Amino acid sequence: MDQKRKLYIETYGCQMNFSDTQIVGSIMTDHDFETTGNIAEADLIFVNTCSIRDNAEKRVRARLQEFKRYKKQKPGLIIGVLGCMAERLKEQLISEEKMVDVIVGPDAYRDLPRLLNIAEGGQKAINVILSADETYADINPVRPDSNGVSAFISIMRGCENFCSYCVVPYTRGRERSRDPQTIVKEAEDLFSQGYREVTLLGQNVNSYKWDDGTGFAKLLERVALVNPLLRVRFATSHPKDLTDELLHTMAAHPNICRSIHLPVQSGSDRILKLMNRKYDSSWYRQRIEAIRRILPGCAISTDIITGFCSETEQDHQETLEMMKWAAYDYAFMFKYSERPDTLAHKKYKDDVPEAVKGTRLQEIIDLQQELSFRSNHADIGRTFEVLAESLSRKSGKELSGRNSQNKVVVFPRENYKPGDYVRVRVTACTPATLKGEAVAE
Ligand code: SAH
Ligand code: SF4
Ligand code: F3S
Repeated sequence: MDQKRKLYIETYGCQMNFSDTQIVGSIMTDHDFETTGNIAEADLIFVNTCSIRDNAEKRVRARLQEFKRYKKQKPGLIIGVLGCMAERLKEQLISEEKMVDVIVGPDAYRDLPRLLNIAEGGQKAINVILSADETYADINPVRPDSNGVSAFISIMRGCENFCSYCVVPYTRGRERSRDPQTIVKEAEDLFSQGYREVTLLGQNVNSYKWDDGTGFAKLLERVALVNPLLRVRFATSHPKDLTDELLHTMAAHPNICRSIHLPVQSGSDRILKLMNRKYDSSWYRQRIEAIRRILPGCAISTDIITGFCSETEQDHQETLEMMKWAAYDYAFMFKYSERPDTLAHKKYKDDVPEAVKGTRLQEIIDLQQELSFRSNHADIGRTFEVLAESLSRKSGKELSGRNSQNKVVVFPRENYKPGDYVRVRVTACTPATLKGEAVAE
């Protein structure tokens, strides 16, 4: 009875982290583990962690406490912390959280089998070395939780923008791009397995570059040419680097989705400068105007941080003004959370009271709710091509998918199935979803 040992992985944080979990899954299945969704039967528990805000770390720490219980029941159980928290806290995490056996930073996943050997011998094992060139380009991700329709492809790692509030440059290290051949090959393989959508991932995809001169626009085009039936998305674009060339490439390929995530962070020039975002509000507006001109009908979403160091009511009003002007279709909105050792932590005071951050965040959320509803309402009566992804959660009688603008569209299932492109006429909406029915044609 030589049963394979079982690995359970839980993932927090951004899409890059979810993509990394698939790389870890691949490395571990090559080393005689199989993944399980049932934590109770695991021989090995990994948590792939995020450090972006304090509450992301708190959630992981609370989860680690719960894992103690499994360790009591199964003394040989090994617990590993992966990802950004592992990288940020290093051995400190082992001394603070005694149940942790293995600590592995985002560039050290190839070393996992060796680290596990050490842990199985009863010692703590750690590797948090960051790399200048690791991209895991040759590793074929294992996608156990996939819907079989839509997949992520990592195209680069790291970040060197050093926005003053952000921990990512410290947890993910130097920016590096992955060989375009391997990216295109992965997209081709996914298409032949039945996938119909890929999302190219990086912290700042616009600065993708390879030695043969391939920049992001060129890479995007090569992936779009894999097949007209393969939808291509990407995230995230930094406003300072969003070029007209990229927008023209998108315009030339209908299968590159009409949706751009362009994090603004703040509408105030003074705050943008303190954030070290390297653009001001007029540059940002002029980038939005370029999108509207070159890609009419393109959806625009954003990230906003409220309550950054020294933010005044006036700065806050400028953020609300920017939101109204840009009329975002969707937004992720956060209270500023000071991260140890970042530039902002060293140079500025986290001086906006928690209660004020709370009020401002609520105003931002309320406004976005209104903007999202207005954007969705304007779609009523329109017909979109929807890529069906899964049976709708609420009832098995409906399919759920997204249109090119990345809006979720729910419609009666009829004889359609995940992976189908369906023309759907929108008949109703909520702030979060469109509802409609399939139309012939
Ligand atoms: N690389 C991407 C975003 C990565 S993090 C980009 O630059 O657009 C995702 C979002 O988290 C950021 O856009 C920002 O809005 C938010 N964020 C990052 N650090 C934060 C912090 N210290 N406090 C609150 N929000 C933060
Ligand atoms: Fe963080 Fe800025 Fe890099 Fe985004 S671009 S990951 S916000 S440092
Ligand atoms: Fe979090 Fe690391 Fe991503 S800090 S947002 S998991 S890069």
